[in-house]
Amino acid sequence: MSVATLTCANVTRPWAPVPPDTHAAQEAACRTPTVATHRCRVLAHRAVNARYRYLRLQADAPVALTTQPGQFYQLKCPVTDSDAPFLLRPMSVYGTGPEPDTIEFLYNVTGVGTRALATLPEGATLDIVGPLGNTFTLNTQSEQWQRVMLVARGVGLATMAPLVQRAAAAGLKLTVVMSARSEADLMRDEFLRSPQARALADVHCVFDTDGSSAVEALEPRIRTLLEATPHDAVYTCGSHRLLMLLQRVLHAHPHITAEVAMEQRMACGMGVCLSCVRLFDRDGDKQFLRVCREGPVFPIRDVVGEVDFG
Ligand SMILES: Cc1cc2nc3c(=O)[nH]c(=O)nc-3n(C[C@H](O)[C@H](O)[C@H](O)COP(=O)(O)OP(=O)(O)OC[C@H]3O[C@@H](n4cnc5c(N)ncnc54)[C@H](O)[C@@H]3O)c2cc1C
Ligand code: FES
Repeated sequence: MSVATLTCANVTRPWAPVPPDTHAAQEAACRTPTVATHRCRVLAHRAVNARYRYLRLQADAPVALTTQPGQFYQLKCPVTDSDAPFLLRPMSVYGTGPEPDTIEFLYNVTGVGTRALATLPEGATLDIVGPLGNTFTLNTQSEQWQRVMLVARGVGLATMAPLVQRAAAAGLKLTVVMSARSEADLMRDEFLRSPQARALADVHCVFDTDGSSAVEALEPRIRTLLEATPHDAVYTCGSHRLLMLLQRVLHAHPHITAEVAMEQRMACGMGVCLSCVRLFDRDGDKQFLRVCREGPVFPIRDVVGEVDFG
């Protein structure tokens, strides 16, 4: 695989602490060419619950300074006695810092690659490529934004966790809707993470086990939340069903910024192979866009539901 290996030439060493969540820091990150292969050391790797694992890496570069919420890395999972993953596996960034060279992932063990990944002991080496993709729109500059809603399910939680921290750092109030199979799968603490986010969050948990996550139950509940309090943005990740639900609900709120981080099977992760295209409707103009390159974050209103194309 050909990988554009660029270095962070304008980063001075010794590395400074991760800067506060400022617009200047975001702009600096966007100006810096950072897509690279990073050799990492596993600092921590443990089970969070029966399905999810937490992975903390120390990279060979200050990746925490240049990685934005919503972006992802391609992980080169190891070859083991029983599994031989060939393609790199895309994983959203779950967290960065506080050291400039540390980065975190939260992943579900589902198949060949993640099963092999789960065998990595602390101290092992792992190559990752990134950061890849775009980031969420979040207005932290003006006091015009007061409250945002996050609707998460499954791995969507890992993708949106950095957005929670960024919004909380800016003092934005959070309406958090968490959907899970059961209470045991919820990972509420793993999503909110900081005391600041917990203090700002109005959390609504829904489950498959009691039917509260079903579309018929959740759709009116989200409509009520949006009608009761003004929201400036709605974000989602992790469920096509929730995405379609929000698309319907948001018809009544055209002023609300609405974004989804899409998950799509990928090969190259860098815009070359076209294996990740999805259909979007931009003001009536139907376009195939690459989730890895033009996304993974897209306006919710632009997404065209699942379609067969050839
Ligand atoms: C942008 C992005 C961010 C993601 N972030 C996370 C995350 O933070 N945490 C997490 O647990 N999962 C995340 N996923 C899903 C993760 O990539 C898959 O679960 C993983 O690739 C499965 O690999 P596997 O070899 O274990 O499974 P297998 O089923 O054996 O994989 C076979 C092939 O299909 C691909 N594939 C399978 N499922 C998916 C999927 N859902 N999305 C994309 N490719 C898939 C694999 O990469 C591999 O090439 C993300 C996916 C994308 C596209
Ligand atoms: S994964 Fe190859 S173009 Fe997106």
